Amino acid sequence: MKIVLANDHSAVDLKKEIRAHLEEKGITVLDIGANTTESCDYPAFGERAGRMVVSGEADLGILICGTGVGISLAANKVKGVRACVCSEPYSARLSRQHNDTNILAFGARVVGSELAKMIVDEWLAAEFEGGRHKRRVDMIMDIENR
Ligand code: RB5
Repeated sequence: MKIVLANDHSAVDLKKEIRAHLEEKGITVLDIGANTTESCDYPAFGERAGRMVVSGEADLGILICGTGVGISLAANKVKGVRACVCSEPYSARLSRQHNDTNILAFGARVVGSELAKMIVDEWLAAEFEGGRHKRRVDMIMDIENR
C-alpha cells in the first residue's frame, strides 16, 4: 500500500509523526512535503496529492494543514478525489464505509498526534461497503460530469 502524505507549514511536526506511524505499519509513504515551517500555499500540495491518488501513483492520500479544510478543498477539485476532513475516528471510519473516501485530511491545529493516529488507523482499517452506498457515491461522482 502506498500513501501520499502532504501538508503545509503548519503541520510539519505532525506530518513526521504520521509518516513514522504509517511506516511502522509497513506502508510506503510518498511524502511530498512541505518539510519546513516557512509559509507555503496548501492548495498546491492538496492538488498534487489528489492527482497522485487519481492517477494510481498512490493508493490513498493523507493531507494535513492547520484545519484540514483548505488542503482538502483543493484536493476535492481534482476529478476523482473524495477527500474528507475528520477530527475524530467515527467519521473517519464511516467516510470509508459509506463514502469511499480516497483522501483523509485533518488539522494540526485541531487534533493532537495521538488522536490523529487513531483517526488514521480507523480510516485505514475500514472498507467500503458498496450496495446502496455505491449508488450514492456514483451520484456524487456523476456531479463532476455535468
Ligand atoms: C495556514 O495559516 C492555514 O490557513 C492553513 O494551514 C489551513 O488551515 C487552511 O485551511
